[in-house]
Amino acid sequence: MYEEKKFNLTGLRGLSDKQISEHLKLYSGYVKNVNGLAEKLDPMQKMENADAYTIAELRRRLGFEFNGMRLHEYYFENLGGNNQSPESDLAKMVESQYGTPDNWSKEFKTAGMARGIGWVILYYDPEIKKLHNVWITDHEVGHLAGLPIILAMDVWEHAYLLDYLPSQKREYIEAFFSNINWKVAEERFAKVRR
Ligand SMILES: [Fe+2]
Repeated sequence: MYEEKKFNLTGLRGLSDKQISEHLKLYSGYVKNVNGLAEKLDPMQKMENADAYTIAELRRRLGFEFNGMRLHEYYFENLGGNNQSPESDLAKMVESQYGTPDNWSKEFKTAGMARGIGWVILYYDPEIKKLHNVWITDHEVGHLAGLPIILAMDVWEHAYLLDYLPSQKREYIEAFFSNINWKVAEERFAKVRR
């Protein structure tokens, strides 16, 4: 069973408490759905003659619900700050790969402007020591296998529609950036850097 994590996120810049609390309710739904899905799927997976269509759909559904749950945890964890340390190892990595932090953030923000619902994720590949800005469709399409997540930005419309119009997505992205908890991103990077 997965437990819902608690996040204390009020008074953010450009993201209302109402927006965050409604978003947290959606997250809560993902946790419930992951657990509910496991209850249905676990016994069926032990059966030799489970209905092929039903089990196939439930299996596919797991990727959506699980990633929906986990990505929201990354997202809410990496909000609630604005404390980038220019001397951190992550900042140095960004600078060595992109030249300046602005070059990196411009690419990340532009990825967020892609049409459709999904996420932008900053991954780190320890094997070749490289950062990747990646678009994820829905919650589960486009992940880079096995790469650790350093920063996650939700660009589903539900992440900002109480505060911004769909045409103001760029303003939401700027609001997200002004609330990034860089300490969390730096800790994630420190864990996987080698
Ligand atoms: Fe979301």
